[in-house]
Amino acid sequence: MDNLSEKIKQLRNEYSDSDFLIEHLDKNPVKQFTNWLDDAIETKIYEPNAMVLATSVDNQPRSRYVLFKNIVEDKLIFHTHYESPKALEMLANPNISGIFYWAEIHRQVRFQGIAKKADKTISDEYFSTRPRGGQLSAWASDQSSIIKNREEVTNKIAELDKKFENQEVPRPDFWGGFEIEVNYWEFWQGRRNRTHDRFCYTQNTQGWNIERMSP
Ligand SMILES: Cc1cc2nc3c(=O)[nH]c(=O)nc-3n(C[C@H](O)[C@H](O)[C@H](O)COP(=O)(O)O)c2cc1C
Repeated sequence: MDNLSEKIKQLRNEYSDSDFLIEHLDKNPVKQFTNWLDDAIETKIYEPNAMVLATSVDNQPRSRYVLFKNIVEDKLIFHTHYESPKALEMLANPNISGIFYWAEIHRQVRFQGIAKKADKTISDEYFSTRPRGGQLSAWASDQSSIIKNREEVTNKIAELDKKFENQEVPRPDFWGGFEIEVNYWEFWQGRRNRTHDRFCYTQNTQGWNIERMSP
């Protein structure tokens, strides 16, 4: 660890000088988010749609990455196993938080919101666009259960491949989308000497308040 500690000490990145001002922000936080996501995609960041999703049940916070897939009526959509720990946690307590981090452009987007199962049509539509291998593994994986070895899953996939031979793989009822209605957004742009620009959007009766926060 000594050598590693030394390497960690040397990790000190500087950010740019560019100003990010309140007037640069879109009044609609969803539009602001999609503008930044588009910048991240254009910068060719690897998996720019990867977001950390944090849940909390019985004072036990847990987080993991998921892939953000769409925005429908201003709600963020991702897909998962409906009996996975994360899904059961969101059904027990729909208050979640999430984060995107795009290191190459020195930006973070943090949000809080309410999660619930998405409409079946959203899940069906997305499932039908998955490659067949991904569709079969959705069927084969009892997500987060303990297994003896990888063959347990690959054998199941081979069986399912035969079962659904010459036909489209249907979406399993236990797999689909969640939608997040965001009620708090925060945009962070890294700046030189840690004078980062940060803005938060909070809801009021008319729409959204935008305020600058101390870095
Ligand atoms: C970049 C990345 C993207 C991921 N995307 C998803 C996803 O969209 N849906 C999903 O169920 N798991 C996804 N995972 C796996 C989860 O992080 C997690 O391991 C799994 O869903 C089990 O989580 P749970 O036990 O909290 O339910 C992803 C992992 C990584 C590293």
